[in-house]
Amino acid sequence: MSRLDLFINRMVSQRACLNHAAALTADLQGPVFELGLGNGRTYHHMCQIMPSRDIWVFERAIASHPDSTPPDERVMLGDVFETLPEAANRFPEGASLIHADLGGHNAQKNDEFARRVSPLIEPLLASGGLMVSSDRMYFDGLAEIDLPPDAVPGRCFIYQR
Ligand SMILES: C[S@@+](CC[C@H](N)C(=O)[O-])C[C@H]1O[C@@H](n2cnc3c(N)ncnc32)[C@H](O)[C@@H]1O
Repeated sequence: MSRLDLFINRMVSQRACLNHAAALTADLQGPVFELGLGNGRTYHHMCQIMPSRDIWVFERAIASHPDSTPPDERVMLGDVFETLPEAANRFPEGASLIHADLGGHNAQKNDEFARRVSPLIEPLLASGGLMVSSDRMYFDGLAEIDLPPDAVPGRCFIYQR
């Protein structure tokens, strides 16, 4: 499989899983978290499919497309190893949906990062909430659920509390 194939599969799967998770959590209270803004493509999509929900962005340096830049008051700026613990105090009700796309091009590094960040993400999810990730996560108390039919297995993961 070429790098182009992998990239396309990741994009298609992100969109499919975000659409699926947004629909399944539509009736839940609690904010939505976007971990890793990057160019802002997934953030822009999340704003479009969840216009009435509060979306908070976690990013160490904002460098997104102008059309996909969150308002300052909805950004938790800094390293997620510092901002995720802060979010646990700030949002005691927990997030209804968390999307994480924090990785780079090195699969082994992404996996090591996922193992370290999983324990910080797990307590932030509200009961019934969903966590969508581009990398396999390592949770003790969340269950991995089936992907929607239009997602590519292994390119995206969904977990539920
Ligand atoms: C692959 S990009 C996200 C792409 C985004 N989903 C999009 O559609 O444009 C990953 C982002 O995660 C951010 N990131 C990676 N590690 C981080 C960390 N430890 N704390 C905060 N942000 C981090 C990077 O700065 C980068 O902007």
